[in-house]
Amino acid sequence: MNDPELPALLGGPPVRPQGPPDWPGPDPEVCEAVARACADGSWGKYHGPHGETLVQQLATKFHVEHALLCGSGTYAIELALRALRIGPGDEVILASYDYPGNFLAVHAVGAQPVLVDSAACNWNLALDTLEQAVSSTTRAVITSHLHGGLVAMRELMAWAGERNIPVIEDAAQVPGAVVQGRPAGSWGDCGVLSFGGSKLLSAGRGGALLTSDIHIAQRARTHLLRGNLVCPLSELQAAAVLPQLARLDSRNEQRLRAVRWLTDALAGLPGVTPLTNHMDDSSPTYYKVGWQYDSAMFGLSRARLVAAMRAEGIALAEGFPAAHVGRSPRRFRRGSDLAEAERAHHGAVILHHPVLLGTPTDLQQVVTAWRKAYHHRARLAAEPPAGV
Ligand SMILES: Cc1ncc(COP(=O)(O)O)c(C=O)c1O
Repeated sequence: MNDPELPALLGGPPVRPQGPPDWPGPDPEVCEAVARACADGSWGKYHGPHGETLVQQLATKFHVEHALLCGSGTYAIELALRALRIGPGDEVILASYDYPGNFLAVHAVGAQPVLVDSAACNWNLALDTLEQAVSSTTRAVITSHLHGGLVAMRELMAWAGERNIPVIEDAAQVPGAVVQGRPAGSWGDCGVLSFGGSKLLSAGRGGALLTSDIHIAQRARTHLLRGNLVCPLSELQAAAVLPQLARLDSRNEQRLRAVRWLTDALAGLPGVTPLTNHMDDSSPTYYKVGWQYDSAMFGLSRARLVAAMRAEGIALAEGFPAAHVGRSPRRFRRGSDLAEAERAHHGAVILHHPVLLGTPTDLQQVVTAWRKAYHHRARLAAEPPAGV
């Protein structure tokens, strides 16, 4: 058998010379929706039918009483904390390996993050760490579903309910996912969505807070209203999200099939382990496809792997930095051992979602690039990039 071609990082031809697929892609339905918002004049108004329809459709789709639109998922987390009246002197438990904005949102309201570990199977919040982390000043838990991993919300809500601790469920990465029979984002006292520019539902910017608690909804509304709305979602943005919401499930199914195919095709690649969920009646969605990458087993540092894959035209990236690694210990309390979070910090690799809606050739290219990196790992580890 011939050797696969030289890696692009070492001067060979890239697997995808055109680079990763763009996001969002060409979208006639969004263009039509935005054109309608221009034609009916709502594009230039503070309020209008598109935002109102989006609020109703989100409430229906996510099985909640109230959906509040806002300027980003990051702000929606802060809004949730404020609506739960969390502030100085309070503690909020969250995973050290999480979206960094969640840690910063806790600080934004003056509270103290308490960092806990991730589950070994999927590097999402480890529920068995909560009991050791809780204190008399714990006022909330933030949990995110990350990289195709899911958190067992039934068990989390039972634990938190017994202690009267509200839960903020960050579903920014998983709109349309099902967790134990219910939509992700609908389990928590507050759920959070993002319509950021890279997200499955994209308006360039934007987010939403979901809740079925009238008091939380009222307090969140009060925070948003300062004479005018602070941090709003515009009519044009709402108009752009609506057609995407209508086809979210069919696209999620397509992404899920693609991830299953990729997982099978990459099975047995040393040091590349897919995230796994162990719960009934659940189905993840994929904003990022996460793998647990063991650089020693694969034979290549993570930074070099990512550089090699990107040179091939594949949108692979390192995962989040864990909060306990880079940040001053004065800025958080350590709620548990953080060994898995440390592993995630060094070993999470994530594939951006647009390729999952591609053709079989697009998916095969991802596999080819992984195999190329593995085949040439020794040279990739040893040689500087071409042109250096
Ligand atoms: C888990 C999670 N929460 C929140 C956000 C923030 O969303 P936004 O970009 O809308 O602020 C992100 C963005 O990547 C995320 O991954």
